[in-house]
Amino acid sequence: MLHKIINIFKNKSNEKILSDSIKEIHSQIPQDFGGGCSHHKALLMGLVISEFNLKNSADIGVYRGRSLFPQAIAHKLHTKGLVYGIDPYSNEAAVQNDRPDLQEQLDEFITVTDFQKLYDDVSNLIKKNEYQNNCVLVRKKSSQAAIDFKASNTKFGLVHIDGNHDTKFVMEDVANYFPLLDDKSFIVLDDISWDSVQPAFTLLNKEMIFIDKLINETNDFALFGKGISNEEILLLKEIFKKIKKK
Ligand SMILES: C[S@@+](CC[C@H](N)C(=O)[O-])C[C@H]1O[C@@H](n2cnc3c(N)ncnc32)[C@H](O)[C@@H]1O
Repeated sequence: MLHKIINIFKNKSNEKILSDSIKEIHSQIPQDFGGGCSHHKALLMGLVISEFNLKNSADIGVYRGRSLFPQAIAHKLHTKGLVYGIDPYSNEAAVQNDRPDLQEQLDEFITVTDFQKLYDDVSNLIKKNEYQNNCVLVRKKSSQAAIDFKASNTKFGLVHIDGNHDTKFVMEDVANYFPLLDDKSFIVLDDISWDSVQPAFTLLNKEMIFIDKLINETNDFALFGKGISNEEILLLKEIFKKIKKK
């Protein structure tokens, strides 16, 4: 009994340290049209990584790092593992055509964005915050990176899919990274309300266990798991419920 009570307090303070560290790194990284992982999604990924002691995670679509660094923090504080940040940082790869209602803004974004500077900024944040042991940038398209991961037999406990949102690429990400998942593992799929992402959402619903989703002004994502027990599903639903209340 005493052991259980001590664990509750330990988990609470661990969560607070994780949450505060994520707030601190997020205060250094602006949100804008190109990206902007919320505190909710960041904390959820951090908690899943630490609760399940996931050693490797993948962040597909790094941009300024708002979804990458929370994973690095969870690895640094808890698992001593590594997040791979996968992004080609190229104007060509960032072209998206499946949102006709946003096409003008998307095209303008490609024209004005300096991807080399974004890459340099994220690299500098890794050094400044001493995340080198828990975070590595892979400057490649996710499809190319997946070939390398397969060759090196690298597997992931968590994959966050937030790269190119056109259907072709999101479906490619699901197809390429699903075989790279550990037996017990998770996918966080972003922008699930986009028509172009819907087919990936439907596919993951069939292939994995749907835990929950959060859609509001600042969030649009779902969490899926595989290889998890009923007890773990309940734990994840509880974590998600807590996240929704924040
Ligand atoms: C929506 S942003 C990511 C936002 C980021 N996850 C965050 O929370 O702030 C999409 C990113 O995907 C990257 N991207 C585009 N095509 C890609 C591909 N084939 N593989 C990996 N990343 C890609 C873009 O360069 C861009 O930085």
